[in-house]
Amino acid sequence: MKKKVLLMGASGSGKTSMRSIIFSNNPASLTSRLGATIDVEQNHVRFLGDLILNLWDCGGQDAFMDSYLTSQRATIFQHVGVLIYVFDIESREAAKDLEYYRDCLEGLRQFSPNAAIFLLVHKMDLVRAGREVTFEKKRDELQECSPELSLSVFGTSIYDESLYKAWSNIVHTLIPNANILSTHLSTFAQACSATEVILFERTTFLVIATSSSSSSRPALSSTNGRTNNDARQSDNPANTLDPTRYERTSELIKAFKHSCSRVRGEFHSLEMELWDFTAVLDEMTKNTYVLIIVHDPSIETAALKLNIRMARRKFE
Ligand code: GTP
Repeated sequence: MKKKVLLMGASGSGKTSMRSIIFSNNPASLTSRLGATIDVEQNHVRFLGDLILNLWDCGGQDAFMDSYLTSQRATIFQHVGVLIYVFDIESREAAKDLEYYRDCLEGLRQFSPNAAIFLLVHKMDLVRAGREVTFEKKRDELQECSPELSLSVFGTSIYDESLYKAWSNIVHTLIPNANILSTHLSTFAQACSATEVILFERTTFLVIATSSSSSSRPALSSTNGRTNNDARQSDNPANTLDPTRYERTSELIKAFKHSCSRVRGEFHSLEMELWDFTAVLDEMTKNTYVLIIVHDPSIETAALKLNIRMARRKFE
């Protein structure tokens, strides 16, 4: 199954930088060396077995934007599954950015009216004071441009975990069986007496699904798996965990993998036994990693690893 993902926004807004961090494992520090994208750079990223992301990184210089909106209009805007539009929060041409954005929405309305739309208010690290207020102001401004659309707007930066939160949400909408995965993860978490189980995509380390209910998992939507669990929810330590834990884990593991590659090592798995919890991160399938968090000190990591091995076939 192929899903076309359009990555658009003004030149220098950070599109190629985020693509290279998420999909090519490059560190943020190297993005300053990236040149401007000429026309469209297409990449096919195999994501979870059958799901292929057909990523169109559209260079944002005016001449290219004008051509997308005229001669290349049908080619660019047809069969789009997701539009990701990136805004540089520090842009000196905010009015022009908005005008192009409106024109792109029009193209999308014409050729792919059902496409999901994600807006990234990017380079938030450059906002020194009043980050929250600045973001909300921009979000409201973008929503006003298209009041009839339901938009998902995220504040992002390549220098923190916010990029992973946004992209995990984007990818989550593209995975057709995300709810079934969550149900299986809930069952698996119960079998392991785990507080929480999280499934990551292997290359990007984006979160695909978690065992937790949506109430304790603000970043991603919908899990069907937890029925009759409301009473247990209040006792679940997952409810008191940091709400940014998923994207922070993605970011940390990606950085760790990068360090391993620099010393020619290969990342396979991770085990941590701390005073109040145990964590095991291991391959689940050839496209995924699973992280199990347990707060019961009597549960051995070897048992968790055995459970992962036994559950593999179910998740293939
Ligand atoms: P075109 O290819 O011309 O369309 O530009 P682009 O949108 O692909 O921009 P690119 O990714 O090349 O980034 C331009 C510059 O922005 C680079 O120097 C990046 O290092 C920088 N950049 C990207 N993301 C961030 C961010 O979150 N914060 C900061 N401070 N700089 C960023």
